[in-house]
Amino acid sequence: MGFSLGTAITYYCIVLVVFESTGHVAGGCYKAIVSFGDSVTDTGNLIHKSKVLSKGFVKSSVPPYGETFFHHPTGRYSDGRLIIDFIAQSMGLPLVQPYFGGERNGDRSFAEGVNFAVAGATAMDMSFFTERGIINSCTNVSLGNELDWFKQMLSSFCQTPSRCKEYLESSVILMGEIGGNDYNYAFLQGHPKEEVMSFVPKVITVIASTINELIKYGAQILIVPGNLPIGCSPSYLSYFMTSNASEYDPQTGCINWLNDFTEYHNELLQKELNHLRELHPHTRIIYADYYNAAMRLYRSPNNYGFENTLEACCGGGGPYNSNPHAYCGSQLSTVCDSPSSYISWDGMHLTEAAYQWIVDGLLIGPFTSPKINGECILSRPKTKIPDS
Ligand SMILES: *[C@@H]1O[C@H](CO)[C@@H](O)[C@H](O)[C@H]1NC(C)=O
Ligand SMILES: *[C@@H]1O[C@H](CO)[C@@H](O)[C@H](O)[C@H]1NC(C)=O
Repeated sequence: MGFSLGTAITYYCIVLVVFESTGHVAGGCYKAIVSFGDSVTDTGNLIHKSKVLSKGFVKSSVPPYGETFFHHPTGRYSDGRLIIDFIAQSMGLPLVQPYFGGERNGDRSFAEGVNFAVAGATAMDMSFFTERGIINSCTNVSLGNELDWFKQMLSSFCQTPSRCKEYLESSVILMGEIGGNDYNYAFLQGHPKEEVMSFVPKVITVIASTINELIKYGAQILIVPGNLPIGCSPSYLSYFMTSNASEYDPQTGCINWLNDFTEYHNELLQKELNHLRELHPHTRIIYADYYNAAMRLYRSPNNYGFENTLEACCGGGGPYNSNPHAYCGSQLSTVCDSPSSYISWDGMHLTEAAYQWIVDGLLIGPFTSPKINGECILSRPKTKIPDS
């Protein structure tokens, strides 16, 4: 597909918008992104923390992570940019720097955004998992820790409550996704579905209380993502592989009960967001439907240039190319030639191409509610569909 006239016109208009808006910060648009979450959103925090503590091996610190866009590993769990990167670029903002060890470190950089997300982080505190015999070998960071860092950041960056309020009022808060790991560790360590289901209301409560706290500090616009469909994830598909064909969705090959689980989390989250909107009528709390934005890729892969939906691009073999003993980046793993034709990057995380389509679905398509202010979207994240 070439550079069509339609694209050219859109691009031209975008350029005009950018030029016209330079006097005032694009009327009603955002000056910064402040984000929380896990490996879906981490732009380099875990890699930095592990270096400082000289603790543990971080998978995303070695090639082929980062190969497509950055051409070197950055700590992002993908071959390139993440959802947060595409959101920032679409809004005309710089890529959001990690709180720890950012390239433009120092308080001044926070004016344009700061990312507290840490790969492996959970919504619940570490003790919740240790009490239940669940191990998080990746990090002990929880959403509560990320909120604490946020408060420390405010006290050095904007200092007075009124200045911090001003900063937060002109920022978009990206709250997640978070909670995915709370379930990942439990499920992939053999805990029964009934037990993991009982975590969901607790996870939602933590997310809600974090949102309440952020609003207290002045946050006005929050994007709160739901979880991605775990039933389509190569790591889950290998772990829960079964000969019972009726467990699989015949159209996508995803495992139904696992996707039902994700939908259960997402439904409780949306109910809680409705409640929060009533409590805070002057804030804009936007639900970002990562689940359905991703599901359309699994349902109609050809429309988006994907040839392989359920196998990881990078992995150590097996029916879904996802093997916990030969993970992406290890010597036993291989990487596909064309990551943009795969949805899954490493069995647990998606490719840059998949993330780009998800963001297109959020910012241009129907997958946010209420809609994100279209005037603030300066460019469309969509990937060009590769020639076939
Ligand atoms: C996490 O672990 C690090 C290093 O092992 C320790 O310094 C830190 O206090 C721990 N944090 C929490 C919240 O337990
Ligand atoms: C196969 O899976 C279906 C759907 O989950 C279930 O109802 C059925 O009992 C399973 N059959 C066997 C033999 O386990």
